[in-house]
Amino acid sequence: MATDELARARTLYSEAQVQQRVVELADEIQAHYGEEMPLLVGVLNGAVMFMTDLARRLAGDVRFEFMAVSSYGDATVSSGAVKILKDLDSDIAGKRILIVEDIVDSGTTLAYLLRMLRERDPKDVRVVSLLRKPIARQAGPAPDWVGFDIEDLFVVGYGLDFAGRHRNLPYIAALETD
Ligand code: IMP
Ligand code: MG
Repeated sequence: MATDELARARTLYSEAQVQQRVVELADEIQAHYGEEMPLLVGVLNGAVMFMTDLARRLAGDVRFEFMAVSSYGDATVSSGAVKILKDLDSDIAGKRILIVEDIVDSGTTLAYLLRMLRERDPKDVRVVSLLRKPIARQAGPAPDWVGFDIEDLFVVGYGLDFAGRHRNLPYIAALETD
């Protein structure tokens, strides 16, 4: 049951810590792009909280859209089959794109998104991920900005779910799995 899960969860980053880090990331992103702000592309559903907080901290012509993808398979499947469930609404040719992700674990999802979006001839594509797990530090595409490098834990909250639960938490917690 959901309440039992939370009773056995350990807070990794409090709401204040998350908000503080989002402000820092926004400042770095703003400084990087300057006048020519990118189209923010959020990956549903996990990146929703991060996207809305990040976007509010950016100034200028800031637009955002969402994509939905589904990853098939598990750790035993290395082929990385990812399917688009909801595509972008606009043409991104010649545009600057910033992918907004909740977490990079194996990097399969991100690698697919980067490949797919680059085929559409954007001006450039960069990535900000709130969280990154150890395996992604060794292999796979490197995000341009990372909020927190975490251990190999299963985390929930601030958009991240376990079987659809706990996305609404304003903080990030690690679930004790057994
Ligand atoms: P990847 O393709 O292995 O990098 O996995 C990326 C996706 O898996 C993320 O966008 C999340 O939706 C999900 N995911 C990976 N690790 C976690 C976690 O610890 N908690 C919740 N979702 C996770
Ligand atoms: Mg995600």
